[in-house]
Amino acid sequence: MPAASHVTENLSEMPVPAGGDSTVAMPDRASLPRHVAVIMDGNGRWAKSRGLPRTEGHRKGAEVARKVIDQCAKAGLDQLTLFCLSSENWKRPAEELSLLMDLLHQYVISERPQIIERNLRFSVIGRREGLPEHVLDEIDRSIEAGRGNTGMRLCLALNYGSRAEITDAVRHIAADVASGELKPDQITDATIAERLDTANMPDPDLVIRTAGEMRISNFLLWQISYAELWVTSKCWPDFGTDDLAMAFRDYADRDRRFGGLSD
Ligand code: IPE
Ligand code: MG
Repeated sequence: MPAASHVTENLSEMPVPAGGDSTVAMPDRASLPRHVAVIMDGNGRWAKSRGLPRTEGHRKGAEVARKVIDQCAKAGLDQLTLFCLSSENWKRPAEELSLLMDLLHQYVISERPQIIERNLRFSVIGRREGLPEHVLDEIDRSIEAGRGNTGMRLCLALNYGSRAEITDAVRHIAADVASGELKPDQITDATIAERLDTANMPDPDLVIRTAGEMRISNFLLWQISYAELWVTSKCWPDFGTDDLAMAFRDYADRDRRFGGLSD
């Protein structure tokens, strides 16, 4: 028995900083999810309950996203994926969509120093078609700014819909079969996974959803097969550093069996 068995060089046993102004302690690093995906919902309801225009909710939501990114990067997560705009959100009034695009444009620009400072790898999933050219240009600049970085992957789901993503993957596979490049019996889980926008990304371990809605809303349907779900009734603009720490603590206590049995 070594004399100082409590002394460890093992990073996984070192305490994780709570991050930001959180008063709730994070679980130890080894118990953290690798990849967290967030359905940020309730911006409109947050604004309405304060007698503000919906757009104010989106503005505040963008500030919260920045804080959460920072807290996750400090905690040492592998990946954070944020559902920013779904392919179904185009049904909204033109005025709100135009503000969302302005906000997204500003956001991607103002996020760049954080990408550099926090060593973030930046990527986007979803269809590019439909997003304005000036927004796509800034996205590409941010991807470029994060190239070669080695820290947390920050992935924004923009104009993203999981069924559309899977449909695109099926089309690619069908084309490969038609050209003789692939035989039907060679198609495996991996064949599908590597044709999704999330190819080379780990599957999410934890999905956080705000605004109390118990639904997945066409988000990463394939990838979250075994993810743990954590839902809070708080609207996204009210989501704070303590909420994230609580979600991580709950996750650390979950018994993940992947269809098998506990140890
Ligand atoms: C989420 O908040 C942000 C986006 C989908 C862009 P909502 O805008 O959906 O807010 P609610 O659901 O109307 O409260
Ligand atoms: Mg909503």
